[in-house]
Amino acid sequence: MLEKMGEFFDARLDGYEEHQMTCIDSADEFYPYTANCLPQTVGSRILDLGCGTGLELGYYLERVPTARITGIDLATGMLETLRKKFPGKDISLILGSYFTVPFGENVYDAAVSVESLHHFTKEEKIPLYTKLKTALKPGGYFILTDYFSLSDEEETNRRQELIRLKKEQKLPEDEFYHYDTPLTVEHEKEALKTAGFISVEVLKNWGPTYTLKAYR
Ligand SMILES: C[S@@+](CC[C@H](N)C(=O)[O-])C[C@H]1O[C@@H](n2cnc3c(N)ncnc32)[C@H](O)[C@@H]1O
Repeated sequence: MLEKMGEFFDARLDGYEEHQMTCIDSADEFYPYTANCLPQTVGSRILDLGCGTGLELGYYLERVPTARITGIDLATGMLETLRKKFPGKDISLILGSYFTVPFGENVYDAAVSVESLHHFTKEEKIPLYTKLKTALKPGGYFILTDYFSLSDEEETNRRQELIRLKKEQKLPEDEFYHYDTPLTVEHEKEALKTAGFISVEVLKNWGPTYTLKAYR
């Protein structure tokens, strides 16, 4: 049975971080790497899309303890865990979907998202990335670390399977259910460029997990 996105993650809260760090290849490398890609300057303002329990933020705050962070997530339990992990840090948490929460204009030095955006289509991402670009300051950038489909066929098959499961289970079209449907890196880059990011660079990859940098 498919589970609603936030409920899926909250139901797996116990052991979530251990799962991420031990079951995903090279997680011990790509979380610190992602944190290193963010601005290393005092007081940087960072937006995290799908911050979860704050794994990438933990590595980042070790490097820039004065960072001012906004984290968005739709799983209540994940946000509660994050809140307790970093007492005294400048962190604002927003419970909601990054598709609907307003981000503001010229607010952030950088944005980050790790292992969250592989659930959505290119069409869903373009308006999200347009909103994200507007929220970045001039010179700002977006660091995306996520896993990707390695072929168009894999991307299409996963999406079709999700559509089939939703139909079979008579689930509403417009609600988010947990099922991984990663885009290919090429399609992700197209979504970012269509949204107005001036260029997108592949910084590094560990098998199917890539870090992309999109320049405002
Ligand atoms: C695999 S976890 C990754 C969390 C964290 N970034 C990490 O790497 O540990 C994916 C997170 O994305 C969140 N998420 C998924 N879709 C979302 C949406 N539309 N808006 C906000 N958060 C979302 C989930 O609730 C979950 O906490």
